[in-house]
Amino acid sequence: MQNYQDVLAEVLIDAPTLQARIKELGAQISAHYPDGDLLLICILRGGVPFMVDLSRCITAPHKIDFMAVSSYGVGKRESSGFARVTLDLQMDIHGQHVLLVEDIVDSGHTIASVLDMLKTRQPKSLKVCALLDKPERREANVPIDYVGFTIPNKFVFGYGLDLDEYYRNLDFVGVVDLEKYTPPGEA
Ligand code: PRP
Repeated sequence: MQNYQDVLAEVLIDAPTLQARIKELGAQISAHYPDGDLLLICILRGGVPFMVDLSRCITAPHKIDFMAVSSYGVGKRESSGFARVTLDLQMDIHGQHVLLVEDIVDSGHTIASVLDMLKTRQPKSLKVCALLDKPERREANVPIDYVGFTIPNKFVFGYGLDLDEYYRNLDFVGVVDLEKYTPPGEA
């Protein structure tokens, strides 16, 4: 894998800007769930860094759980239009206030499928918090209750978003320079 510095076109959202916005989201969410009774559901894997930082900024008592879905075939980037659960929740969400935490909403198919599935489990409420919203790519009309940043249609990585599985650990969101980046299989 190439060094990220060699394929970074620009830093789209730097670390202090990310953290400041997450603090605001945490305050907003805390105010909306003053009694606690909230369950944050992180959609693996991209949502992990955001979920961790957001959870620390939510002062209302809350629980966390994780689920994984697969919406794309191996090696494909086209949406299949539905998501398959590959790791289900540990917790029963019946009667719970649920907030889904995602790194990015792109076509919207992942969130749409997860919402459809979780609604059948009869939570008390079901909302969505996405760090990044890329509306130009939307195919499914999904409600996003809390948005960190609306971004242009660029290939972004870092802070949970991968570049062929690498660099989810970066503390900023960057744009890939596609002229300089060679995917591992093509090197
Ligand atoms: C990414 C991201 C969202 C989804 C958004 O996940 O984390 O879950 O794609 O795309 P959509 O709005 O077009 O459905 P991905 O399937 O790449 O898995 P990952 O989180 O493990 O990287």
